[in-house]
Amino acid sequence: MVYAEEIKRRRTFAIVSHPDAGKTTLTEKLLLFGGAIHVAGAVKSNKIKKTATSDWMEIEKQRGISVATSVMAFDYADHKINILDTPGHQDFAEDTFRTLTAVDSVIIVIDAAKGVEAQTRKLMEVCRMRKTPVIVFVNKLDRDGKDPFDLLDEVEEELQIKVRPLSWPIDMGQRFKGVYNIYEKKLDLYTPSKQYVTESVGFKDVNSPELEKHIDAPLAVKLREDLELIEGVYPAFDVGTYLKGDIAPVFFGSALNNFGVKELLDCFIRIAPSPRPVQALERIVDPEEENFTGFIFKIHANMDPNHRSCIAFVKICSGKFERNANYKHVRFDKIMRFSSPTAFMAQKKEVVDEAFAGDIIGLPDTGNFTIGDTLTAGENLHFKGLPSFSPEMFKYIENADPMKAKQLNKGIEQLMDEGVAQLFTNRFNGRKIIGTVGQLQFEVIQYRLLHEYGAQCKWESLSLYKACWIESDDAEALENFKKRKVQYMAWDKGGRDVYLADSSYVLTMAQQDFPAIKFHFTSEF
Ligand code: G4P
Repeated sequence: MVYAEEIKRRRTFAIVSHPDAGKTTLTEKLLLFGGAIHVAGAVKSNKIKKTATSDWMEIEKQRGISVATSVMAFDYADHKINILDTPGHQDFAEDTFRTLTAVDSVIIVIDAAKGVEAQTRKLMEVCRMRKTPVIVFVNKLDRDGKDPFDLLDEVEEELQIKVRPLSWPIDMGQRFKGVYNIYEKKLDLYTPSKQYVTESVGFKDVNSPELEKHIDAPLAVKLREDLELIEGVYPAFDVGTYLKGDIAPVFFGSALNNFGVKELLDCFIRIAPSPRPVQALERIVDPEEENFTGFIFKIHANMDPNHRSCIAFVKICSGKFERNANYKHVRFDKIMRFSSPTAFMAQKKEVVDEAFAGDIIGLPDTGNFTIGDTLTAGENLHFKGLPSFSPEMFKYIENADPMKAKQLNKGIEQLMDEGVAQLFTNRFNGRKIIGTVGQLQFEVIQYRLLHEYGAQCKWESLSLYKACWIESDDAEALENFKKRKVQYMAWDKGGRDVYLADSSYVLTMAQQDFPAIKFHFTSEF
């Protein structure tokens, strides 16, 4: 196949949701369509979770929470689909944010009864920052939920994105009859207990009396009214606007019942973007460029419990990656060869000889990589990653076994390279502070330090409100600020100045008292 065609047929995306909205279930159904897994009928998500997602880390098995991000690839209708799975637990939100740097589009799953939830809002912020095209799948229509029009209003308001329904539900809950597929002008009928679209009828004109042959008259009337309202209220669907990230098409269905999923997938492969150009510090890189470029967005430790091994996940931004070719590790200015790059087809990890822009490959790593590292065919390029956000929780980390200080330091360093949490060093007392999004991350760090590095740590609580990266055009003012706040100044891992504000009040006062200082809540500004 011609090289450009290979790239055009790729769809690399993530499914994101607030926990429990149905992300895992939807992922499984997509895998089923792709023939990547074979399970008859609808399967309870927990059962399949173990096989559909990658439970590499011991801690995941223990807690039953998908801590790690994995990749699932399969072919569907001449397209190569790469789904990047994201951790379901909100304490690992940073992990999800980073995964979003490696995708070309996103499907957001929303529970029809719960509407937009906290985690979805945060994830959408990241999509907005990166102008990532988003499709919304409203799930669980087989249960009573909110009115669809109200849901659309809620999505527009809460996620700050314009929406355009491309399918429309016919009733819901026990009375759910199916959806009208606006995109394809079809009526897809749902029969409870049957786990698929039982009848799909082409319907160019819903005003035709034929409609009443398929659904009860009052429902037909309601559907016509709803569709008329939709056409009146929402602009006609325009793929270009979706691709710019300015409008989100919305589909309705029930992932558990495998209803509306194929419609979503069929539309998705048609409208979702193939690999998009990527902005590097130096220039924009086009996926169809001949030379290979890529960046590390995720490092996954301990894939194999028998060996201390890491895998660095690389998103290929341009060109073709070849096994055993020479590539440049830009940060080290070093040429490297990779003899066993892996691809992730369905649940299997296998060595690949080549991969194309849009694909994700895994490179065995022995500590050469940190998140955001760039690999190229020789050019000096730096892909811009996602900024670190201010953590929500902070703790001092202390050594609990004096004989293992070296192991602890090494462990902390490597875990931070992996992006497990953020490390700050207090300038005043030299103590190390770990910043996380949630409590669970502290537990993961403690567990991994012990099991992977043989080091024991203990935590000392630290009540902080936010970490702010500071800068100023006025060098004297900056020095003065650092002196005045000396006990609250720290360095981040890259050696940049960070002010640790212990309350929102103190931060506001600092902003008032030091107008020459700029306070940033993300590490890139
Ligand atoms: P997540 O990955 O977003 O956290 O959600 P997940 O797919 O695990 O789904 C959360 C729960 O919602 C699961 O139920 C799942 O079966 C259910 N669910 C998913 N899609 C639908 C749907 O379309 N309709 C209905 N009624 N339920 C749906 P659970 O009881 O937590 O787990 P399980 O015991 O069913 O596996």
